[in-house]
Amino acid sequence: MTSSVIGNVDCKKTMMEKRAKKWGFEGQTGLKATSAVTVRGVLNMLIEGLNKEDSRPVIPLGHGDPSHFPSFRTDAVAENAVIDSLRAAKYNCYSPTVGVSSARRAIADYLSRDLPYTLSPDDVYLTLGCTQAIEIALAVLARPGANILLPRPGYPYYEACATYNGLEVRHFDLLPEKEWAVDLNAVETLADENTVAMVIINPGNPCGNVFSYEHLMEVS
Ligand SMILES: Cc1ncc(COP(=O)(O)O)c(C=O)c1O
Repeated sequence: MTSSVIGNVDCKKTMMEKRAKKWGFEGQTGLKATSAVTVRGVLNMLIEGLNKEDSRPVIPLGHGDPSHFPSFRTDAVAENAVIDSLRAAKYNCYSPTVGVSSARRAIADYLSRDLPYTLSPDDVYLTLGCTQAIEIALAVLARPGANILLPRPGYPYYEACATYNGLEVRHFDLLPEKEWAVDLNAVETLADENTVAMVIINPGNPCGNVFSYEHLMEVS
């Protein structure tokens, strides 16, 4: 009896070992490194370090969501447009993945105002915020051996998404002494025939700078 129980235990252990070998789940070290430093992490660290005894008000300059502040109320035109479209009962359906055609047309018309050519609704692909746009753009750009140029400091999700898609990440610096302008010399050195894209974040996150038109022309 005793030996058969031991036998079963041994047998179970061997099966578990086999299963562990078969699945082999483990964290991706490359992805882990991309989330090591985030603006939110640094802000949380600063807030935790505040002296709770000090009653002076703290202005949360690192808080990026304008809806948190009463002076940044969404315009009534935008609010009413959302309410009207809900009440119209025309758009409560399962919408096309790339966005409803009337919205794509409106965006194409709006953007065409500043272009020497006319965009069509088919040129517009709507996403659920920037996160989905980054995922789609980088998945489309990725191919074996390709690399992408990312700003440093930058927004960490680009690193995570590039790593996930197998793109080699190459960093160019933003120069604090030049109002966080792109280090153009670094870009010249880093880019090669396998560079598929260069990310420009404007207005910048986390630096909050806005590139001048002249600088954007230099970059392009
Ligand atoms: C540069 C940058 N990319 C992507 C995002 C994520 O955007 P979303 O919340 O629309 O997915 C943010 C958000 O602050 C951002 O600043």
